[in-house]
Formats: sequence, C-alpha cells, structure tokens
Amino acid sequence: MAELSLIDISKSFDGKQILERISLSVSDAEFVSIVGPSGSGKSTLFHLIGGLLEPDSGDIYLDGERLNGKRGTISYMPQTPSLMPWRTVLDNVVLGAELIGRKNGKKAIEMLAKAGLAGYEEAYPNQLSGGMKQRVAFIRSMLSPQSFICLDEPFSALDEFTRLDMQQWLLSMWEDHRRSILFVTHNIEEALFLSDRVIVLSSGPARVKADFTIPFPRPRKESVVLSQEFLEWKKTIYQELQVIT
Ligand SMILES: Nc1ncnc2c1ncn2[C@@H]1O[C@H](COP(=O)(O)OP(=O)(O)OP(=O)(O)O)[C@@H](O)[C@H]1O
Ligand SMILES: [Mg+2]
Repeated sequence: MAELSLIDISKSFDGKQILERISLSVSDAEFVSIVGPSGSGKSTLFHLIGGLLEPDSGDIYLDGERLNGKRGTISYMPQTPSLMPWRTVLDNVVLGAELIGRKNGKKAIEMLAKAGLAGYEEAYPNQLSGGMKQRVAFIRSMLSPQSFICLDEPFSALDEFTRLDMQQWLLSMWEDHRRSILFVTHNIEEALFLSDRVIVLSSGPARVKADFTIPFPRPRKESVVLSQEFLEWKKTIYQELQVIT
C-alpha cells in the first residue's frame, strides 16, 4: 500500500509565496504526473514530500501517517542526479537497498544492462555523461525498497531515442510491480504516455489548475502517441498550461 495525500500545502521562500494551498492525492499503484511552468515549484513540492523541507502550512500523509519533515519514507530521484563520486556505478545503484540491508546485486546488474550501462558497473560517476548519470540515479530510485517513488524529470538529459526506451522500460517495470509514482516532467507527451492522471500547476504562486484522468488503456503501446485522441489530449494540456492564471 502506498497512498499519498497533500492537503493545503503552502510554502514561501524569503517572503515570496511559491506554493499556495496545493492539495492532491496519489492512490495505491497509481502513476501521476505533474506538469507546470519552470520555476513554479515542482521540485519544491518534492522536497516537501521527501521531508527535506517542511511546509509553512498544510499536511502530507502517506498511508495515513503524517510525513511533514520526515525523510527516508519515499524513494526520491532529485532533478540533479546526486551520485556519490567515491562509489562505483554498481555501488551507487544499490545504495537505497543497502541502507536497509537488502542489496540485490544481480537485479542491479540486469537493470544497468537494460539501461545501456553494461560494462560501466565499476566506473565512477565522473567517468559518465550527464544522461548516463541520470540513468544510474533512476535505477537507484527504482531499486530502493520504498513503495512510493517521486521522480523529478528523470529523463530530461536523454536524447529522444534513449528517452523513449527509458519510458517504455519504466512502463513495463511499473506494469509488473505497480508501485505508486509521482512524476515531474516538462514533456507533455511523456506525461500523457505514462500516466493515469496529469496534474497541471499554475505559477506565481503554484496552485493545482487541472487534474486530468488519462483514459488510454493499459498495457500501453508506443503507437498510442500517434492516435487522434492522443493529439487532442496534447492540445488540452498545452492550452491549460498557456492560459494565464
Ligand atoms: N531553498 C530555496 N530557497 C529560496 N528559494 C528557493 C529555494 N528552492 C527553490 N526556490 C525558489 O522557488 C521557486 C520554485 O523552484 P523549483 O525548483 O521548485 O521550481 P520547478 O518548478 O522545479 O522548476 P524547474 O521546472 O525549472 O525545475 C523558484 O523561484 C526558486 O528560485
Ligand atoms: Mg524542478
């Protein structure tokens, strides 16, 4: 079980309000994306959920337990991959699992290979490209034991082909294991292809502008992005993002 709810979350920095009464929920095994203008406060929202920051007001609950200011309960992939430079690729991806004494080297090696990183297990982060670092951080968050995962633009540094591959891979993994995922992206197509729901944030301060349920059946095939219905959805979300609040 992993059900997240945010209730009336507000946050200011230096007197400037960034988030205003954000309420949203993610049900067990649901895939929810957040899209919103750059600087609107998406990463801040994740820092609050991850307990790195505390809200000025409002509450965060995971399965009924209050999470405000509490770390370690969710698996969180930050926007800038924070790999440990003194650990190899393999030692970095098993980190989350290792912290609770459940290291699974075989699975880690398999996942690295699927992400095109075979042969890099013993490399160090400074020997990797930006996109490779992102994939390592992504695998680390997928391997950590928590049942709720927050991913902050995990594929933004990847070229289009690798991005599509990683999306497919994420979907197949998620369809097998069904963990709850909250996903931030700038890419509307990516949000539509992956998600059960897409939440649109406004900016200055951020509020929930829209919460769409995406009806494409699962398992989803890549070809869904070419359908007329998909195009209609893209328009709807673009329009929602463009309307001045
Ligand atoms: N620790 C902090 N102290 C002061 N201001 C901050 C802090 N963290 C974020 N901000 C400000 O809060 C606002 C929202 O930042 P945030 O990183 O959450 O945006 P974002 O939606 O994730 O943007 P992007 O899409 O570019 O990643 C920005 O104006 C940023 O300057
Ligand atoms: Mg961000």
